[in-house]
Amino acid sequence: MKMRSSKTLVFYPGPNKVTACNFLTRSVFECSPEMVGLLASWDKWASTTDIARAHGWSKSELKAVVPQLLDFSALVTAGSPLAEQEEQFSGQWSWGLPTALMHFCVQDSEYMTIEQAEERQIERAGHTPQPDLLLKNSAGAIQLPNALEDNELLSLMARRRTNRTAARPTITAKQLSDCLFAGLGIIGETANCVGALPLGMTPSGGARNPYEAYVVALGVDGLEPGVYHYSAADHDLGRISANHLPKISELVGGQEWADSMPCLILLCARLDRTMWKYEDANAYRVVLIEAGHIGQNIMLAATNHGLSACPTAALNHSAIKRLLGLDSLTDAPIYALTLSTPERDPSTRANPSISRPTMCSPASNAFPGYNQRQEQHVPNQSLRQSEIDSLQYISSMTNELVQMAEASRFPMISYLLGMAYAEAFDVLRGARPARHAQLSGNPLHPKAQAKDNRAAQPRRA
Ligand SMILES: Cc1cc2nc3c(=O)[nH]c(=O)nc-3n(C[C@H](O)[C@H](O)[C@H](O)COP(=O)(O)O)c2cc1C
Repeated sequence: MKMRSSKTLVFYPGPNKVTACNFLTRSVFECSPEMVGLLASWDKWASTTDIARAHGWSKSELKAVVPQLLDFSALVTAGSPLAEQEEQFSGQWSWGLPTALMHFCVQDSEYMTIEQAEERQIERAGHTPQPDLLLKNSAGAIQLPNALEDNELLSLMARRRTNRTAARPTITAKQLSDCLFAGLGIIGETANCVGALPLGMTPSGGARNPYEAYVVALGVDGLEPGVYHYSAADHDLGRISANHLPKISELVGGQEWADSMPCLILLCARLDRTMWKYEDANAYRVVLIEAGHIGQNIMLAATNHGLSACPTAALNHSAIKRLLGLDSLTDAPIYALTLSTPERDPSTRANPSISRPTMCSPASNAFPGYNQRQEQHVPNQSLRQSEIDSLQYISSMTNELVQMAEASRFPMISYLLGMAYAEAFDVLRGARPARHAQLSGNPLHPKAQAKDNRAAQPRRA
């Protein structure tokens, strides 16, 4: 059996030992200087007998260490899947070892639970204060004009919030469509010395367009639950998997809140598109930066529809690649966003004293083990389903209106809407009785007499 040392090993020295890392397999192990010497000399396909003869190792010494070196993927067997993977790596990866080390070592990380992450933060805060999260100028700084006044675009941006609780189990196909188009839609073409280049809704380094989007649709009205590829070229969805439909949390590092989300957009880079033009490793950063542009456009389109898009970089890369059938070494899941109609957290309800939009994020933000604690929301048992639907719709809409009023600096309107939201929410969770008013004859509620009060139901596409 022929073997050689792995081509994807990196060594770094420490006191009395050398640590080795195979970045393709993410195997990290300690080596004695003799082992480093053995691996360095075993760089071509050779049997243990060849190595023993050429480098003065006894056969029994080799027999003792080879199984462990194979186990650590320090040695690779000819014809094995790992040998094939290394072959792919040397043929396809042109951004050098430091970038490869970074890229492959952060695949499939183990993510902490929110409790673990919080415990760590509390422990760290006990001995090391947090760095300032905002930098202020000293007195005498030049005050700039109010940015949010009379500015719809900036007000829309200010309304964008990450929300991890879905008020409704579905979103509409139109909402999904607009989010995808905002992020990845192709709206033109340009050309360079070697051919046509697509122009999209976001900038792309060298117009290389490295991203493809995939949708795990579990609750999109009019769309069979399934996994779809979004073709930016044709603005359509092609179904790619009819088999096992995973829970969303299985793809986003076990974040359980994601399982109530109607849909997940996965942004996967085809690194080869950018690599083809740019050999410089800085192009790797270019690709990552582009995910941010696309994600932000998706989030703004979502906000415009009254949705919240929650971004996440805590991915289960291998599971995603398997699900999507991506088998190239240079296909890389980078970023993902859930879409949902947000449910407002009552703790952030409008306060008449707040005249600026709140700039703060939810308190428990547990990087790297994102697993945001969920508000348990059990609808009031005494309500009919149609009433629950109506209240959920009202609460999510009043939530949107509160944010609009806050962003536009209408504190009193924001307060009154906040009260309406709070009441709807309290009735929903049974903290306040539902008063079924007699509305017959009220010209403001013409449908109130209808037997099955359909008019008050949430809209459906
Ligand atoms: C690159 C990136 C990764 C993120 N990853 C996660 C994540 O894994 N889980 C999560 O719940 N939120 C994640 N977030 C959302 C942040 O927690 C959120 O943006 C932050 O709390 C500020 O709130 P805001 O989005 O409402 O402004 C991520 C945001 C960014 C930009």
